Amino acid sequence: MEIQSHLLEHTHLKFLLKDVEKIPVRVWDDNIDASKHLAKTIALAINQKQQQGTHCVLGLATGSTPIKVYEELVRLHKEEGLSFANVYTFNLDEYFPMQPDAVQSYVYFMNDHLFNHIDIPKENIHIPDGTIDMDKIPSYCEYYEEKIQSLGGLDIQILGIGRTGHIGFNEPGSWETSKTRLVRLDNLTRQDAQNDFINQEVPYRAITMGIDTILKAKAIYIMAWGAHKASIVKVAVEDQISSTVPSTFLQTHENTHFLLDRSAAAELTRFNTPWLVGICKWNDDLITKAVIWLSEKLAKPILKLTNEDYNENSLSDLIIEEASAYQLNIRVFNRLQHTITGWPGGKPNADDSTRPERAKPAKKRVIIFSPHPDDDVISMGGTFLRLVDQGHEVHVVYQTSGNIAVHDHDALRYIEFMSDLGQETGIISDLSILDDAEKAMRKKKPGQKDTKTVLKVKGLIRKGEARAGARYVGIDDDHIHFLDMPFYETGGTKKNGLGQIDIDIVVDMISSIKPQQVYAAGDLADPHGTHRVCLESIFQAFDQLKKEKWMKDCWLWLYRGAWHEYPIDEIEMAVPISPEELLRKRNAIFMHQSQKDSPPFPGEDVREFWQRAEDRNREAADGFRRLGFAEYEAIEAFRRWKFDWQ
Ligand code: F6R
Repeated sequence: MEIQSHLLEHTHLKFLLKDVEKIPVRVWDDNIDASKHLAKTIALAINQKQQQGTHCVLGLATGSTPIKVYEELVRLHKEEGLSFANVYTFNLDEYFPMQPDAVQSYVYFMNDHLFNHIDIPKENIHIPDGTIDMDKIPSYCEYYEEKIQSLGGLDIQILGIGRTGHIGFNEPGSWETSKTRLVRLDNLTRQDAQNDFINQEVPYRAITMGIDTILKAKAIYIMAWGAHKASIVKVAVEDQISSTVPSTFLQTHENTHFLLDRSAAAELTRFNTPWLVGICKWNDDLITKAVIWLSEKLAKPILKLTNEDYNENSLSDLIIEEASAYQLNIRVFNRLQHTITGWPGGKPNADDSTRPERAKPAKKRVIIFSPHPDDDVISMGGTFLRLVDQGHEVHVVYQTSGNIAVHDHDALRYIEFMSDLGQETGIISDLSILDDAEKAMRKKKPGQKDTKTVLKVKGLIRKGEARAGARYVGIDDDHIHFLDMPFYETGGTKKNGLGQIDIDIVVDMISSIKPQQVYAAGDLADPHGTHRVCLESIFQAFDQLKKEKWMKDCWLWLYRGAWHEYPIDEIEMAVPISPEELLRKRNAIFMHQSQKDSPPFPGEDVREFWQRAEDRNREAADGFRRLGFAEYEAIEAFRRWKFDWQ
């Protein structure tokens, strides 16, 4: 579903917004709807050209952003007869040097996600060649430019945006007049690419179309999904044009459109501070956001904000409706105060009318869903400890095996341990499987997938760590569950789609416990999208179970993963963590030894998981303190997901 901001839609306000947003923006609830919309636009262009008896030239991108667009184009081809016979494609870029059969190459990516599944003639596909000799690169780049122009130029160019603000691999410092060329990659870009280069160095260079090549396209669609893109999206759309953020050059193009999901759009003025650019449709959520913003901006606790503060900061609307700033302050202060509770499972025998959780039943059955085997303790370890200490029946459910995220050297160590044990004690009857696994590990080429046995070993390593972590928190072994959801088991970062079999497993788990409380990862910024799929499986399981009587009382709380915290105005339950609990949480995270020091998939953050978790929890506590609430060591935050049938 496409979403609107809180601004009233007056024509003169639209003009005001146009001054702020220099590239037209459309925002969808999620990236799936937005990707489908773009795929439909591309399909329309292809069909139109077909009817005119001519060809369509597409500029294509790689990376995580366009994957769903390609998925939808493949579906349109397979199910609705969309033909690519008249399509020519030019990819934006390729690492240099790069062999086309390497799994990290963009040739591999494009074949895997699109070309292998559609009817495009192979000779119509163009991807910068990462294998050519250095001295031939300038003439090759000229040929690439000429080839695009000889076909009439790009009809549609699709783009993602890097955290440096790059488009293609046009890193900060690239000029508007730049053409296809060899470039050096920015450090941040190389860091972001590290997830695809497990145990290998990310190339330092790439061949990329230039800004000028991109700007010559007749239509440009640039996409961004997820909170980690929100700040650069704001800069690209709202800031001055500058070569330090090459995507700002798109502001000069007459037919560029930015497609965003809700999280990537969150920092745009129209969503973040709409009162600065127009007249708002106020509701309690927006009022809370505005008051928090004012308090942070003026570095004043909420209860000290005055009428003048509101008047002088574009928020006079708010106090017109209230008798005074003070009344508004108290209303917002109380709302936020009521989110803070040391009783995440509800406080027994207490008035619960203003508490986030119900007092009854005093002892609740609780499920904590953890997408990977460590998200439970990283994201909500303090709350997990409290729920156990306060006597609830807590079950932890690990949704996936997490078997791709173990270093080869760790797996080898365990395999050798088992071999040695087998040889020295004779208790393993057949050592040949271990021998094979050891050989496979030693022969493994960078980027190559693991054998089944090695994946099993890696999965078991994580299982053992998860058990140790949950036991440390204090739950019995029969409350620790492993689902090993099949969608995850591909041995690579590209996962299968969610199947009924995955959902059934989750349904069985929930029905066997009949919980009053379920916690799940609502963090959609995880690099491989596993959290997203795991959450979807829970939503679908709830939907399947909604007719069960006990489901009426089953509340779903979402926590964020290791990457981002909810902003304070979105938090519905804030659980304070004492200094001692924070240390215990750290120890529980330490049980996940394969993820310590330098985890195989660190994401975009150089800190270790326990450091990120602690920083994040301390920042949340400090945020509350600055607004004038009590000072806690740390806070874990949750949001309740309300189903319309509850
Ligand atoms: C890809 C490309 C890059 C990416 C950008 C975003 O061909 O040129 O500009 O579009 O780095 O990457 P993701 O989509 O992985 O966040």
